[in-house]
Amino acid sequence: MNRLYRPQKYIYDLTRKHFLPGREVLLRAMAVPARGRVLEAGCGTARNLILLARKYPDSTFFGFDASTEMLAVARRKITRRGLHERIRIGPALAEEFDRQVIFGVEAPFDAAYFSYSLSMMPRWRQALDQVLAQIRCGGWLYIADFCDMEGWPGCLRRSIQKLLRTYHTVYRPESLEYLRTLAENGKGVLTVKTLMRGYAHVAEFKTQS
Ligand SMILES: C[S@@+](CC[C@H](N)C(=O)[O-])C[C@H]1O[C@@H](n2cnc3c(N)ncnc32)[C@H](O)[C@@H]1O
Repeated sequence: MNRLYRPQKYIYDLTRKHFLPGREVLLRAMAVPARGRVLEAGCGTARNLILLARKYPDSTFFGFDASTEMLAVARRKITRRGLHERIRIGPALAEEFDRQVIFGVEAPFDAAYFSYSLSMMPRWRQALDQVLAQIRCGGWLYIADFCDMEGWPGCLRRSIQKLLRTYHTVYRPESLEYLRTLAENGKGVLTVKTLMRGYAHVAEFKTQS
């Protein structure tokens, strides 16, 4: 991940503004309880964490990422905005993330989310299981990511998907199928919203109380 993000870490926020539309929908949809604790898996430059920390001033936010290059940018932004006491970040792989090892916290999180990061994880199932294991009963998991682009003209769809592959990003419908199966087995309730004719999706999985 460092090799991919080293050259673009400074322009990342500017260049992704219109490219990742599910982020705003995700942040609006998120239920953050009073004095809540929320985790972002693959937090990148902490753009989402900073917006959430400003919106929910009594809550605490945690983020981890595989790229120390992205985390270095994130750390500078968080410090510059005076949010270092309410946003904690650290290096980790989603497939192996453990809140006690990385942040030394005992209590599980109220909510966790993947924002355009799950599609970069070939071991998506381990990543989902590992992050789900960090959420309290009755908490929330959210995912914003690319979708099948079904409503897009074939040539445009293929060009965008080819571009995404250069960023190691692949739409994996099986990750939503997996959550659907968990929901059918009584492990939670799944809601999926598709945006911009299938360009992106936002999923909410409320875990069983
Ligand atoms: C497209 S960026 C999204 C960043 C941020 N979530 C956002 O919405 O702006 C994807 C991020 O996921 C991270 N990532 C990819 N695979 C990962 C993994 N297995 N574990 C943790 N982070 C990972 C990348 O390093 C990158 O920072």
